[in-house]
Amino acid sequence: MENERGFTLWFTGLSGAGKTTIAEIVEKELRERGRRVEGLDGDIVRTNLSKGLSFSREDRNTNVLRIGFVANLLTRNGVGVIVSAISPYKEVRDQVRRRIIDFVEVFVDAPVEVCAERDVKGLYKKAFAGEIKEFTGVSDPYEPPAAPDLVLKTNEEGPEESARKVIEKLEFFGYLDPA
Ligand code: ADX
Repeated sequence: MENERGFTLWFTGLSGAGKTTIAEIVEKELRERGRRVEGLDGDIVRTNLSKGLSFSREDRNTNVLRIGFVANLLTRNGVGVIVSAISPYKEVRDQVRRRIIDFVEVFVDAPVEVCAERDVKGLYKKAFAGEIKEFTGVSDPYEPPAAPDLVLKTNEEGPEESARKVIEKLEFFGYLDPA
């Protein structure tokens, strides 16, 4: 019998830290192991469920609460939910964490200089030029988690290694049967 314990795996961290990249590798691995998985990525959620929301503190928190709401519905139905969202504010992250019992918080930790150097979407350049306001890590705050279940230093390890640590953590918590 396959393990069908639902969980929410929540990646928080700066834009460009590697959340989506690691999430995609983990998602693929979980599917290959026969798990039902659903990904909720900030960039995608903001084109539908959270369309029109700004990057003010209030709107970011609304976005995070919406993601948390959907994640909870799926989690309690045995789905493995993988969230990648900057989710910069600790208070509302913790609120979601308390609501979803089966919750694994992963801090994707890379210095802002490294994220800006990568600048995958070209947004840091614009943020430093003042063309984008309220940009996380540049002109807007990021509050790191106080007690994450896992910290991934993506300037010291590649995405495959990070993904492996995540899988091991899911196995350790009993959300995934060892391969
Ligand atoms: S959150 O703060 O509400 O959790 P979310 O993860 O959904 O953010 O969206 C972040 C993405 O929006 C970034 O990866 C980036 O592509 C884009 N973005 C556009 N403007 C900003 C901004 N001011 N700050 C951060 N990200 C921004």
